[in-house]
Amino acid sequence: MADPRVNIIDKRLKNIRRIIAVSSGKGGVGKSMVATTLALSLVKRGCKVGLFDLDFTSPSTHIILGAEGVQPCEEKGLIPPVVHGLEYMSLVYYSGNHAAPLRGADTSNALIELLAVTLWSDLDYLVIDMPPGIGDAVLDLIRFVKRIEFLVVTTSSQLAFETVKKLGGLLQELGVPVLGVVENMKMTESTNLQQQTEALGLKFLAGIPYDPKVEAAIGDAENLLKTEVARKVKAIAQTV
Ligand SMILES: Nc1ncnc2c1ncn2[C@@H]1O[C@H](COP(=O)(O)OP(=O)(O)O)[C@@H](O)[C@H]1O
Ligand SMILES: [Mg+2]
Repeated sequence: MADPRVNIIDKRLKNIRRIIAVSSGKGGVGKSMVATTLALSLVKRGCKVGLFDLDFTSPSTHIILGAEGVQPCEEKGLIPPVVHGLEYMSLVYYSGNHAAPLRGADTSNALIELLAVTLWSDLDYLVIDMPPGIGDAVLDLIRFVKRIEFLVVTTSSQLAFETVKKLGGLLQELGVPVLGVVENMKMTESTNLQQQTEALGLKFLAGIPYDPKVEAAIGDAENLLKTEVARKVKAIAQTV
């Protein structure tokens, strides 16, 4: 039997032009940082943008944005609050700030439920901050969000890149569009990863340097947009 939630989610997302999932095989590579600065950069470009934090393992975008004192508004669904010009929704509004509140199938259900109940307006872009890895969240999203596109983040380490090969391979096999790969926290001029990315048939979007100023800008969107990370991400925002 067809899952009725597929139709509801289709309806909820039908007026959103592009849906971009920021994903990676590993944690700690900068997904949340890239997703947040990408969403903010698209707002600065004059686009209507939503940011959706679906990382149940460690939701972070509310901290990076400094989204305090806001809550979704309940109105036959959940209306995302507007934070720094973008519509913002996070699993933290669903699960609270509890440690490991969701397990196994609960996680999948929470993610699908949130996709089904969130009432976005007509957006140009919805940026999704994903949990790390090639798990249920990626598979659920591919199943429920027809027009999903992936942006894959890695560090320069071969350990992180090995997981890109797997994730990229899976997406290619399933025919899911991959916008490209971002090499984050880059500390050398090496083009090794760019070459490996291109050899996989994936686009290399940018190398983002390690920027020690980023830590102080967490929670401060205006300063975040002045960092070297944001400068590189803005260039990506021009091309997507
Ligand atoms: N280019 C960068 N330069 C310096 N620090 C960064 C950069 N990108 C991310 N970070 C920091 O690295 C850590 C991991 O980033 P985060 O976005 O939380 O990763 P993920 O979401 O993939 O787990 C955070 O402390 C973040 O502030
Ligand atoms: Mg994260």
